[in-house]
Formats: sequence, structure tokens, C-alpha cells
Amino acid sequence: MRKKIIAGNWKMNNTNSKSKILLEELLGYNFPTDTRVIVSPSHTQLGFVSDKLKNSNIEVAAQNIHYASSGAYTGEISSSMIKDSGVFITILGHSERRTYFNETDESLKEKVDKAINENLEIIFCVGEELVDRKSGNYFEYVKSQLEKTVFLQSIKSWNKIIIAYEPIWAIGTGETASPEQVQEMHSYIRNIISKKYNKSLADSVSIIYGGSVKSSNANDIFSQSDVDGGLIGGASLKSEDFAAIVNAS
Ligand code: PGA
Repeated sequence: MRKKIIAGNWKMNNTNSKSKILLEELLGYNFPTDTRVIVSPSHTQLGFVSDKLKNSNIEVAAQNIHYASSGAYTGEISSSMIKDSGVFITILGHSERRTYFNETDESLKEKVDKAINENLEIIFCVGEELVDRKSGNYFEYVKSQLEKTVFLQSIKSWNKIIIAYEPIWAIGTGETASPEQVQEMHSYIRNIISKKYNKSLADSVSIIYGGSVKSSNANDIFSQSDVDGGLIGGASLKSEDFAAIVNAS
């Protein structure tokens, strides 16, 4: 049985003092034990947040890593640095990284390799732009993103890979994909994983949805058979909203 996953992507928000309040509020909830709850703070807060959550069921993910082990990469963070902070999961390929920081499928392939070699778990984001949605090219777009990155991994790496489908047109825009649109893409992704590897692997991979998930639409989205939870941006910054989304999983 795939476990549900609700991951809060804090993006470039929160300071240690704000995070402390948010985490203390989150720790006050009794979340369903069959859901993995993850928060993803900025790099400077990874150590602080992972310390704070040490004896809890809430896990921590980084928002990005570099593909090199170390070296002259000003402003970047390595896999060993996040591990040093007690963090063993990273988001990779978020559309904001692709759009604003020029991450490409080619550089993401290197990052996926690095993360797998370092035994990190990956939340790997894919998703089409509005023009691909409108032209009907969205399946091919997402397929190509997968083929150039995680599909180059061997089958044994897949126990470390979570796929996040995040249509770019629905991120931070208030516009959510409909439950049917989400299910259609998730089922497509599961199908191509099955074709590339096998059905039992495809059935075991968690595929989560991101893009304007709120407490009001979470239930409808999460009740789709191929949706295993969500990657939550804006609504993860308020404990009440995030908790309601976790409880809808
Ligand atoms: P959003 O962000 O929930 O604010 O749309 C989702 C994401 O970017 O992961």
C-alpha cells in the first residue's frame, strides 16, 4: 500500500522565529499515522527545523541540492550539507527552479544521480505550462521531463523517488487543476512507469499533486485513485490550513 504524503514547500518564506511558531502549532496536531507529513524550509533553517522535529513524525526536506559534492559553487548547497543538518529528502526540479534559475532536464539528471548516490529521497517535480495544456501536448511534455531524468535511473533507485505533478499554470495562481485532470495525468504517469519498468513498481510509486491545493479542494483531489497526496506551497505556511490538508489525505 502506498502511503499518503503531504509535503509543505515553504519556498523563500519564514525565519527561524516564524518557523518555530508554525512547527509548535503543527506538533500540537494528531495527524493520521498512515500519512507522511514533510516540511521543506529554506536552507538556512534545515538544521533548526530538523532539530525541532527530531522526536516527531514530521519529516524535513530540502528544496534543492547541487549536483557536485563540494567546490566553487557560490550560493549553492550540497547533499552532504543537508545530511549534516539531519535532512535526507530533497525536492528537485521545482518549476520555480526551472524557470528562475535555469534548471534543465539535463542539469536535473545530474542532481537526481547525486541524490540517489547519496541515498537521499527525492520529491521530483514535473508539470506542463499553460501553452502545453492548451495545445493538448501535456502528456508528451511530462513524459519527456521524466524520460530525461528519473527514467534514466535503474529500477532499484525507485524506492527513493516520489513524483510530484505540478502543472505550472496552477502553482500559486489560485487556479487548481480539476480532480479529473489530476487523476488523468497521475494515471498516465503511473502507466508510463509501468511500461518503462513494471507494474508492481508503478503501483508502489507515490505520485503527489501540487498547485493551489487548499483545505477546500484537498479532499476531492486526494480521493482520486492515483493521487497519493500533495506538495503544498502557500497553504503550508499556516498551521491550520496545512493541518486541514493533512487531515484530508
Ligand atoms: P502552491 O505551490 O500550493 O502555492 O500553488 C505549490 C508548489 O509550488 O509546490
